[in-house]
Amino acid sequence: MNLWTTWLFITLNLLISTNGLVRTSYGNWNLERIGDGNTPSFLIDESKNQFLLDGLPFRYISGSIHYFRIPRERWEERLGKVRALGFNAIQYYIPWNAHELEEGNHDFSGILDFAEFSSMAFHKYNLWTILRIGMIFMVNNFQIKIPGPYICGEWENGGLPAWLLNKNVTKQRSSDPVFTREVEKWFETLLPRVKPLLRKNGGPVLMLQIENEYGSYGVCDKQYLRFLRDLTRAHVGDDVLLFTTDGASEKLLKCGTVEGVFPTVDFGPTDNKKDIESYFQIQRKYAPNAPFVNSEYYPGWLVLWGQKRQDLPSPQTIINGAQTMYSLGASMNFYMIHGGTNFGFWNGAETEAPCISSYDYDAPISEAGDVTAKYLEIRKWIKGLTDWTTPPLDVPGNSPKARYGKIKMRLAHSNGNSNGNGFMGDFTDPGDCVDSERPLSFEKMKHFLGLIAYQSKINSCGNLTIPSFGDFVYVYLNGKYIDTLTRRYYNLTRSSVILGGCRNDGEDRLFLLVENQGRQTFETINDRKGILSEVYLNGEAVHFWTQCGIKLPIQSEESQDYNRKAMKKILRNKLSKDNQKQGVFVGVLEVEAAADTWLDTTGWGKGIAIVNGRNLGRYWPTEGPQMTLYIPAEYLKVGDNLVMMVELEGATDACTSTTACVADFIDHPIFHFGK
Ligand SMILES: *[C@@H]1O[C@H](CO)[C@@H](O)[C@H](O)[C@H]1NC(C)=O
Ligand SMILES: *[C@@H]1O[C@H](CO)[C@@H](O)[C@H](O)[C@H]1NC(C)=O
Ligand SMILES: *[C@@H]1O[C@H](CO)[C@@H](O)[C@H](O)[C@H]1NC(C)=O
Repeated sequence: MNLWTTWLFITLNLLISTNGLVRTSYGNWNLERIGDGNTPSFLIDESKNQFLLDGLPFRYISGSIHYFRIPRERWEERLGKVRALGFNAIQYYIPWNAHELEEGNHDFSGILDFAEFSSMAFHKYNLWTILRIGMIFMVNNFQIKIPGPYICGEWENGGLPAWLLNKNVTKQRSSDPVFTREVEKWFETLLPRVKPLLRKNGGPVLMLQIENEYGSYGVCDKQYLRFLRDLTRAHVGDDVLLFTTDGASEKLLKCGTVEGVFPTVDFGPTDNKKDIESYFQIQRKYAPNAPFVNSEYYPGWLVLWGQKRQDLPSPQTIINGAQTMYSLGASMNFYMIHGGTNFGFWNGAETEAPCISSYDYDAPISEAGDVTAKYLEIRKWIKGLTDWTTPPLDVPGNSPKARYGKIKMRLAHSNGNSNGNGFMGDFTDPGDCVDSERPLSFEKMKHFLGLIAYQSKINSCGNLTIPSFGDFVYVYLNGKYIDTLTRRYYNLTRSSVILGGCRNDGEDRLFLLVENQGRQTFETINDRKGILSEVYLNGEAVHFWTQCGIKLPIQSEESQDYNRKAMKKILRNKLSKDNQKQGVFVGVLEVEAAADTWLDTTGWGKGIAIVNGRNLGRYWPTEGPQMTLYIPAEYLKVGDNLVMMVELEGATDACTSTTACVADFIDHPIFHFGK
């Protein structure tokens, strides 16, 4: 018997503490502290391939649930639903870019208060936390075969701040010193906030994941993984279990793992027991004396704009796979147990297309927090596990939903008539405008998300070409919408348009509204946005630009104080004869009792919807499949609610009446696959 097994024998069988330091493959624990039976700790017992929580054998069934995708007011409801399933843990990422949107300016408040999220999970529902501090997050779908996107990121830039793009990082997620210096600064801010939450300090956080599916990234920079490990240890100590997660293949674990850090795997549901056994055997090869863990087991999947179909595992397959893992003694995490919403501008993008605003994910708990058929199946399965120590609770009720019906939306401001800093008319502060000879990118403007308006004067019409830009350019000439340029949307790319109708008086006004529709995640490319090259007219570069960052709310929590007086005035106006359908539309939704509802965007083109200053996300019903935007009850108030829609492509079918366009509020979500 080595010291470790001796100690285990003593602790587990005799409950006697002894002295000295226990070295395991994943850190060094102080025996005396662990051995007294009630000192909080979390580690791997390598003699029995199991976790020990506070000295006792432990396994988890957890669910991924992201605080930053759930309205702050609804955390308790959603966490309660995870606990009622019979789960004993939650798992979540920390998105660096949401916490540090502007360099050096950190936000851990409101919807970003992850410490409160974990504390609530722990104190109200006895849910432990598996925390992923890794810089980047994405899901690598190579196990479940779904046509279309095999790999898709989920969050803007994979969680990396866009301001890193201004830093001359040669390779993100590598030991490039420019990158690691920024990571050091971030961890200096982040890890002291994680520390009090760690189990050894009496908190709910059991282990910390560094990086994420790094094996899939293809860089295989072990020096970088060692840097992350050592940096994390320097902050939290070497008596905290660190782990990595990679797809269950040798090739991926080879590059994604690093000595001293516990390797786990991820894979989706399957009825095939042999496959699951073989996945865990791959993990075991890299972690010979440790428990089996599937860190991402997919009961659903995410969706891209324009996606035509969605193939998901059946509830029975989800249960069969989970049961196989359970009988092998594995711990597992359902990704996602509750998806939530990419409010604001936080959706990420895949190479082919951006992710939709909803992050419903077809998860067992729906976007609005409702219990689904999948939820009931999983709950039934856990209820049947006789040796499971946190059995399900009563099935929680769902929140009330409201169908408020149709309201009139009036054009308050035509996009093409704007002069950039007056883009939102009387509704918001003017944006930040900068003059320059050549157009500036979103990153150079330090306006990272949403929209930037670029304007210049041109001398003649003709072939307008922009060789490099991201992602969509809405082209206007003298206030009139001409067309949309597209960097890449599936196999559609469009970088030139013929402009006609110039007055040729030297005062023809070119107005380019440019949309960042979400930075890519999986490839971790330097995904810059805005106009990234010269703009050519008949082969000649157009110079002297004014560009204005359009101020729209970015986090779902923040609410902009709109000028209500100006709004009332506009609402009294007769709809202008101007039949342009691209612009800022406003309307008032009267509410007697606030309840969850959905804005049905059918008939609108493409844009951004905002209610009472809260950014609900993007809509694009002409592409689908998402037709509705979720509005939590808490975003509404009794009385008048201001609804704004920033319409970019034209609300043709919603504006059939000559007096107004229409927005409809319904009591359920609509997804039209196959549109
Ligand atoms: C990045 O590199 C460019 C060109 O080499 C240089 O002009 C710029 O100052 C550098 N920026 C930073 C932040 O180092
Ligand atoms: C405009 O010019 C570009 C670059 O020369 C060319 O590739 C493109 O086909 C032209 N567009 C049209 C619509 O003629
Ligand atoms: C992409 O290309 C394929 C075949 O070349 C075509 O069938 C399909 O319609 C195209 N899709 C789009 C969105 O243009």
